[in-house]
Amino acid sequence: MATVAVTGAGRGIGLEIARQHLACGDRVIALVRNPAGATELAELAAASQGLLTIHAMDVGDDASVKSGAAETGDEPVDVLYNVAGISGPVPAELESADWDEWNDVFRIMVQGPLRVLQAFLPRMGEGAKVINFSSQLAASTWPYGGYYAYSAAKAALNRLMRSVAIDLKERGVIVGLVHPGWVQTEMGGAGADITPAESAEGIRKVTADWTLDRSGDFLKWNGETHPW
Ligand SMILES: NC(=O)c1ccc[n+]([C@@H]2O[C@H](COP(=O)([O-])OP(=O)(O)OC[C@H]3O[C@@H](n4cnc5c(N)ncnc54)[C@H](OP(=O)(O)O)[C@@H]3O)[C@@H](O)[C@H]2O)c1
Repeated sequence: MATVAVTGAGRGIGLEIARQHLACGDRVIALVRNPAGATELAELAAASQGLLTIHAMDVGDDASVKSGAAETGDEPVDVLYNVAGISGPVPAELESADWDEWNDVFRIMVQGPLRVLQAFLPRMGEGAKVINFSSQLAASTWPYGGYYAYSAAKAALNRLMRSVAIDLKERGVIVGLVHPGWVQTEMGGAGADITPAESAEGIRKVTADWTLDRSGDFLKWNGETHPW
């Protein structure tokens, strides 16, 4: 049995990652911005005999991350999934930009994963993994415009976690960057390519297979290497 911590576990891909790990008999620390709104997750917790517990954590807020992590005690964490994310401003912003929204995007999707990792790192030993949800929009090979804040933030996350991977190698902690596919969630929309269940299943396998020599790599949910 592994212990996994999942941010953004209330809906979307995060909820599915939590559900599937629970179904495998793993211990799931489910971290959500607003526990009162996470009704599906609450049903899983109620039927889990204590295997899945729900804790409040806004990954964009330092105090919330510290108190949320502290509430989960000191049990060792085998996998930390940094899932939480937002789309940010969607139309291309050539003429003007909403800088408050830009700040939110970077606070939640760049600083957030590092903030959460800092909170759990003392509980992560050799062989533990931190899997960060990136996007194909982070890649310089992505052939479309738009989504300025989102793409820039995911590219920053990739570079940040590449550095973290180098710095954690000696401790044996594995750092991964994963594009989850274009997924049918609130963010991806109903017309997306794959279901949250398919994405989560692929990511769990990719995570299980991730070795230290591939720490810092950028992979797709199906195990293929993603171009940078
Ligand atoms: N769906 C796709 O096609 C796709 C493609 C590429 C990458 N991704 C990435 O995959 C990850 C999951 O996406 P998704 O499709 O599952 O998105 P989603 O359905 O929109 O869910 C986003 C999740 O993030 C949580 N969240 C947002 N801000 C938060 C904060 N400050 N603190 C804690 N939790 C927060 C949300 O919680 P609330 O319910 O409280 O809002 C929600 O649980 C994201 O990082 C996203 O960028 C998704």
